[in-house]
Amino acid sequence: MKNTPSKFGKTPHQPSLWTRADALKVRADDPTTTQPLVSANFPVLSDEVFIWDTMPLRDIDGSITSVDGWSVIFTLTADRHPNDPQYLDQNGNYDVIRDWNDRHGRAKMYYWFSRTGKDWKLGGRVMAEGVSPTVREWAGTPILLNEQGEVDLYYTAVTPGATIVKVRGRVVTTEHGVSLVGFEKVKPLFEADGKMYQTEAQNAFWGFRDPWPFRDPKDGKLYMLFEGNVAGERGSHKVGNAEIGDVPPGYEEVGNSRFQTACVGIAVARDEDGDDWEMLPPLLTAVGVNDQTERPHFVFQDGKYYLFTISHTFTYADGVTGPDGVYGFVADSLFGPYVPLNGSGLVLGNPSSQPFQTYSHCVMPNGLVTSFIDSVPTDDTGTQIRIGGTEAPTVGIKIKGQQTFVVAEYDYGYIPPMLDVTLK
Ligand code: FRU
Repeated sequence: MKNTPSKFGKTPHQPSLWTRADALKVRADDPTTTQPLVSANFPVLSDEVFIWDTMPLRDIDGSITSVDGWSVIFTLTADRHPNDPQYLDQNGNYDVIRDWNDRHGRAKMYYWFSRTGKDWKLGGRVMAEGVSPTVREWAGTPILLNEQGEVDLYYTAVTPGATIVKVRGRVVTTEHGVSLVGFEKVKPLFEADGKMYQTEAQNAFWGFRDPWPFRDPKDGKLYMLFEGNVAGERGSHKVGNAEIGDVPPGYEEVGNSRFQTACVGIAVARDEDGDDWEMLPPLLTAVGVNDQTERPHFVFQDGKYYLFTISHTFTYADGVTGPDGVYGFVADSLFGPYVPLNGSGLVLGNPSSQPFQTYSHCVMPNGLVTSFIDSVPTDDTGTQIRIGGTEAPTVGIKIKGQQTFVVAEYDYGYIPPMLDVTLK
């Protein structure tokens, strides 16, 4: 990043706060904000690979886009190792749980295509081995740029470090399928700065990832959301009245919640191509509430900005909790102020009987929510589980003002296009 002054001159906004008082309103198992139970008899996309974070091809305004009638999704993907001695337990059986838990370290970007918006066929790896500058290829967003089929894939290059990067390639279709070509030159865009966004030097558990570029429907400029933590040495953050919010008597104690410092970051492009970016202060912070606000994304509806982000039970701070799932906030303008949807922020959480059934939800502008299956119990005690690594049933939600409602369930991995682009 060049060190030129902000286009905005002064800081344009104050981050909105997800407070401890907001989080106290989270109610697991409210049927209007709970994902229907996923059956342990789910089908898997592939016996060769695990998939998790799913990134549908879309345009810069957020619409899910097919090309020449082909839907395309990108997924974080890792080989399954059923025959690798490294993943056998003491009895010589495949330890799928360990294999699954290790997947983040070998995550690679793959793509899939379909005529029906489901029943995905594996296309292959997006970038050849050696193209991406780091070991891990973590989540991001593929953007269809034009009718020539050019695609900018924004993603996170991780280990060493964590850098928001992009790589340009092209989607090519035939009547038999889709291939991705190019994707050969990865351009680093920016890293955490230590002033607004926490660096690895400040906290070994820092998060800086998951770019989601978009054009603001109101001002027409190019921006990008990403996940971060609020800058500062680990343990130095203050959980004061603002972060606590309006809690009832007896709820003022914050314990060790200063260690939870998630935020939703935003950057603005200095150029039309999105090659030169300037980080701005976070849109939303969760200091004292939660340590991860992952894969932030927008739905623009009714002139409002619906900001969604995924989070976990295990990343909540002392004294507050909630299910794994997707949380949301709404504002009348891009820079807020944002208020939590449904009072608490919870939009779609896992049922408490199957707390890890799904994760990495992506709310699409048509109200469909895609996610992946993590693990589903196969007995009543929850001690036996079946690992997923595949697409979950899609859920339909209705977004109304400051509330959301679960209204439908669809097939596994159902991601229908909202528009089709005919390539020239
Ligand atoms: C969400 C996530 C992303 C990250 C990826 C790593 O499931 O944690 O934030 O990019 O998975 O595997």
